[in-house]
Amino acid sequence: MSLPPILSAEHLSKHFAQSRRRRLPGRAPARLHAVDDVTLAIHPGEALGLVGESGCGKSTLARLLCRLLDPSAGQIYVAGREVTTMSTAAFTRSPMRSDIQMVFQDPTDSLNPRFNSFDLIADPLRQLKPPHSRAELIAKVEAAARSVNLPLDLLSRFPHQLSGGEKARVGIARAMVVTPRLLILDEPTSALDVSVQATVLQLLDKIRRDRGVALLFVSHDLNVVRLLCSRIMVMYLGQIVESGPTDALFRDPAHPYTRALLSAIPTLRGRAGGQRIRLDGEPQSPIAPDGSRCRLYGRCPAQQAFCAQAEPALTGQPGGRQVRCHFAGSAVPGQR
Ligand SMILES: Nc1ncnc2c1ncn2[C@@H]1O[C@H](COP(=O)(O)OP(=O)(O)OP(=O)(O)O)[C@@H](O)[C@H]1O
Ligand SMILES: [Mg+2]
Repeated sequence: MSLPPILSAEHLSKHFAQSRRRRLPGRAPARLHAVDDVTLAIHPGEALGLVGESGCGKSTLARLLCRLLDPSAGQIYVAGREVTTMSTAAFTRSPMRSDIQMVFQDPTDSLNPRFNSFDLIADPLRQLKPPHSRAELIAKVEAAARSVNLPLDLLSRFPHQLSGGEKARVGIARAMVVTPRLLILDEPTSALDVSVQATVLQLLDKIRRDRGVALLFVSHDLNVVRLLCSRIMVMYLGQIVESGPTDALFRDPAHPYTRALLSAIPTLRGRAGGQRIRLDGEPQSPIAPDGSRCRLYGRCPAQQAFCAQAEPALTGQPGGRQVRCHFAGSAVPGQR
């Protein structure tokens, strides 16, 4: 892509210190590797999906990218400018803050119950781009409500007086009101039933197409990501294990973990190699993971002895793909 990225990250990691109770005598506290060495770029108008099982680090990565959390290592750039050296508080006050907006998982949790919809949508505007007059404030809030198909008569209602889909739209309008260039959406539809979910997904796609707003869409549901995103990153235990164009990744998943995820989608069973691929065995612990072996070792249906002796690197493959597997690009025994 020719346009420079809106947001990029290099070698981004977040390790959480474990509580003292879990520390062994005489040892430094173990650290939980929530995000490990992630490099990515999001370009104007693109929709990038981030998928992986619960606890793999998706929300932590999303929160790092919008500077709600400080990284343990690595850099984040907004429109080419490094923002990692700024404190989270300084970033919150900077004009760049409105370029990147986050929409959270459950609108019921993220909307202040004491604000009506108008004030909920007006709040980020007042903080980041204070309008010059009441008339300007009203015009911008109403425009944001219209952009998400939220009827204006709902603006006087409080969150408990709204349906799940209406609350989700208030959450997106709050983000849209400051005219961001990127929306980071952390499972924004997981609390909604399927038909409402589809409406919200169509809305997000329209926002992307009409306004050129890029989307980073976090989900554990590959079907949802497939509808919306042209590129997908698959995460496992804090690491990106595969990334690439959606069509290619669905047609020919290269990492055993991606193959297992795809085989679990009922509508794709025939395509993803016939049978559901089960990952037996316990996942490795994210606390101080063993850097001398593959993180999927012990669960991987294609593992070889070598996988327990060296951790694979994320390597480039033809067609804009990246795969973290010793056997990427070669036939994996029993899998192809
Ligand atoms: N503030 C924190 N302190 C310590 N550990 C944390 C903290 N936040 C997250 N973690 C841990 O980091 C790991 C990644 O968590 P995260 O919430 O990013 O996962 P996720 O992929 O978003 O999961 P889900 O799909 O369930 O939302 C988990 O092991 C979690 O327990
Ligand atoms: Mg999460």
